[in-house]
Amino acid sequence: MKNIYLLGFMGCGKSYIGKGLAQKLGWEFLDMDDFLEANEGMTISQIFAEGGEKLFRELERNYLHATYDFNQTVIATGGGAPCFFDNVDWMNTNGQTIYLKTPVSILVNRLEKETAHRPLLAGKTSEELHQFITNKLVERNPFYEKANLIFEYQTGLETANDLFSLLN
Ligand code: S3P
Repeated sequence: MKNIYLLGFMGCGKSYIGKGLAQKLGWEFLDMDDFLEANEGMTISQIFAEGGEKLFRELERNYLHATYDFNQTVIATGGGAPCFFDNVDWMNTNGQTIYLKTPVSILVNRLEKETAHRPLLAGKTSEELHQFITNKLVERNPFYEKANLIFEYQTGLETANDLFSLLN
C-alpha cells in the first residue's frame, strides 16, 4: 500500500490519531495543512486573507497532488480537501482513504477552543459552531463517505490502536 489519507471534519483527530497510526505501521506522517503552510511560507489564515478560500483550495489541490511522490505515509488532509475538485476520487485512486466519522457534539467540544487558526470557524459562539458543523456535514458527508473505509468514533476516546485494528 502506498499512502493512507485520513479524511474528516476539522477536529476529528486526523493528526492526533494519524501520528499514532503511522508509528504503529512504521510509516511517515504528514499533515497537509502544515505541509502547505511550510511550503508557502504563510499560515492558512494569511492565505484566506490574501486570496480567499478560492486560492486556498487551489493550493490545497496542488499540494495534495504533490503527495503522489510520497510512500508509506499516513496523510492527515484538511477538513475540506475531499470536497473540492475531484480530490476524493484522486485520493481513492492513489492511496487508501479512511473517513474518521465523528458526532457533532464531540466536534463542537474539541473545536470551541480551536477556532483562532481556522478561518472558517473564527469568531463563532458554541451555538453557531454547532449549527455550522451540522450544516457543513450535510454538504460534506457525501464526499467523506466515498472513502474506502469509515472509522466511527463512539466516545471520542478511541485511539490509533482502534484504527489500526480496522486495517487488519
Ligand atoms: C478546513 C479545515 C482545516 C484547513 C482549513 C479549512 C475546512 O484543516 O484545511 O482551515 O474547510 O474544513 P483541519 O481539518 O486540519 O483543521
